[in-house]
Amino acid sequence: MAKAQNDVSLTAKNIHKYFGGVKALEGASVVVSKNKLISLIGPNGSGKTTLFNVISCWLDKSHPDDFIADKASEEKVRRGLLRSIKSRFIGKTESEEDTPKEVGHVKFEDLHLDGLSAHEAALTGMMRTFQTTRNWPKLTVLENLLVAPQYQTGESFLNIFFKRKQIAEEEHQNTLRALEILDFLEITHIRDQIGEELSGGQLKLLALGRLLMTAPRLILLDEPMAGVNPTLGNKIMDKILELKVDSTIFLIEHNMDVVFNYSDEIFVMARGKIIAQGTPTEIETNKEVIEAYLGADY
Ligand SMILES: Nc1ncnc2c1ncn2[C@@H]1O[C@H](COP(=O)(O)OP(=O)(O)OP(=O)(O)O)[C@@H](O)[C@H]1O
Ligand SMILES: [Mg+2]
Repeated sequence: MAKAQNDVSLTAKNIHKYFGGVKALEGASVVVSKNKLISLIGPNGSGKTTLFNVISCWLDKSHPDDFIADKASEEKVRRGLLRSIKSRFIGKTESEEDTPKEVGHVKFEDLHLDGLSAHEAALTGMMRTFQTTRNWPKLTVLENLLVAPQYQTGESFLNIFFKRKQIAEEEHQNTLRALEILDFLEITHIRDQIGEELSGGQLKLLALGRLLMTAPRLILLDEPMAGVNPTLGNKIMDKILELKVDSTIFLIEHNMDVVFNYSDEIFVMARGKIIAQGTPTEIETNKEVIEAYLGADY
C-alpha cells in the first residue's frame, strides 16, 4: 500500500552513480517512513555508503571538513540555502520529468534535494555520520561538540551585538547539553583531549555526540557500531531508538543482531540495487536475501 505523503521522511528514486567503469548504484530506490528506524544492509561494496552520499548531496569534490561549518560561514551558507531553494525549487511540481533519469531523484520531506551542496543539505534538517569519522583535530572533545549546533543565535554579527544575553544563555544550554551527551556516551574523561589523539571507537562516539547536539529530523548513520565495544554499542542503539520520537533514523550496519533487533524495516542492497525490503521477520525468511547476503547458515 502506498504511504501517505506526510508519513514519508525521505524518497530516493532510481539513483544511478558510476565511478569511471564501476557501477556503484544502478537504479536504487528507497522510501523511508518518518519516526522509524530503517536499516540498509548488504555486502561490502554493494553501494550503501554511495547511496548515503547521494542522499546527503555528498559530491565527489566534497571534503568532510567542509561539512562542519564554522560560525562565520554558517550565515552565508544559510543565505545560500535560501537562495538555492528559491531559485531551484519554488514553482516546481513533483513531476520527475525535469530530473535527468540517469541521476535519479532525492526528496526530503517536501524539499527536492537534487543539486544542493552538502552544506545546504545539512541545513535542511538532515544530518549524517561517516564510515570514516572526522572531527576538528586541534579542538578538544567538548569544543568539538560545541561547534556542532547549526542554528545558534551567535552566528551573525548583528545578533552578537544586540542579543548578548540570549547568546550567553544559549551557550550555557549548549554546554549543559554537551556535558550530558559526554556523560551518556561515557566519554567525560576525554572531555579535554584533542580530536587527533582519539582512538577509532572514541571518534565514532564523538561523531554521534556531535549529531545529538543538533537534533536533526533525519539521521543517516553509516556503521555507528564499528569499533565500539558491544555493551556500549547496545546502549547507543537504545539511545538511538529514543530519538525516533522526533527523528527518522536511516542506518547502515553490518551487525545483524543490531539490525534485526532494532529495525522497523530493512532494505537489502546488492550490486547497486535494492533487492528486498520488509520487516525483520520478512527479511530473515526471504530466500533471495539469504542466498545473496545472509548465507545458508543464517
Ligand atoms: N570515490 C570512489 N571512487 C571510485 N570508486 C568508488 C568510490 N566510492 C565507492 N566506490 C566504489 O563503489 C562501489 C560501492 O561502494 P560503497 O562504498 O558504496 O559500498 P558499501 O556498500 O558502503 O560497502 P562497505 O559495506 O564495505 O562499506 C564499490 O565498488 C566501491 O569500490
Ligand atoms: Mg560503506
